[in-house]
Amino acid sequence: MALKVIGAGLGRTGTLSLKLALEHLGFGPCFHMIEIMSDARHQIPLWMNVTAGNPDWDTIFDGFASTVDYPTCSYWRELATYYPQAKVILSTRDADDWFRSVSRTILSPGNQAKFSEPPFDKALKPAIFEPFGDRIDDHDFMVEYFRGWEAEVIAALPPERLLVHRLGEGWEGLCEFLEVPVPDEPYPLVNTSKDMEESGLVRKAEMTPEEAEAAARGYASAMQTKAFGHPSA
Ligand code: A3P
Repeated sequence: MALKVIGAGLGRTGTLSLKLALEHLGFGPCFHMIEIMSDARHQIPLWMNVTAGNPDWDTIFDGFASTVDYPTCSYWRELATYYPQAKVILSTRDADDWFRSVSRTILSPGNQAKFSEPPFDKALKPAIFEPFGDRIDDHDFMVEYFRGWEAEVIAALPPERLLVHRLGEGWEGLCEFLEVPVPDEPYPLVNTSKDMEESGLVRKAEMTPEEAEAAARGYASAMQTKAFGHPSA
């Protein structure tokens, strides 16, 4: 099945909430970083090929109808070309809030250390960390990077193919864009900095690959339950 929705928004712009929302609306399963962490031993070799310039998108997205979050947002241009029928969603938020959020979570020193080690250094670090070089802690650089990213996506796509989805906007614009009815349930609010800190997933944990995958699956299930009150949509 070809992707129907491609997320171009950077991590920490509400991508896990958007994943659960898309799945709830019938655009799932939706690929997210949590899929890689939940099935790392299978996924990491596929992402090494992406980094090496030989992406096998059909295998990576086999069975998925949509994708959001890192690392796939880093390839939004390629994916938008590869899946010409797919709509694109740019999830976004206030740039200062984004910087505060990434600094506490996915771009924190603990995560930088984790992604500098095998196997993540070759498979995922280039797509997530390398664009920031040594300026990952530089507020002004990072905020400019974020705004530049937003502007680039908006400039590249025709307005009818792109939805700019701001944190807190909820269902209406999303459902109108995807031409589906607005659900009765509240829009998901998951993967807050507090959720991540309490989960311990950001810590550089000394877990076996099996334990790390199980922890990621447990977190995904907890976030699904937080959003909709039950483990799967
Ligand atoms: P904070 O770190 O500021 O808490 P992602 O899932 O891409 O990693 O993004 C998570 C961030 O989006 C978190 O920010 C989380 O609180 C925020 N978020 C997720 N869903 C939201 C919603 N429905 N309304 C407002 N913020 C939301």
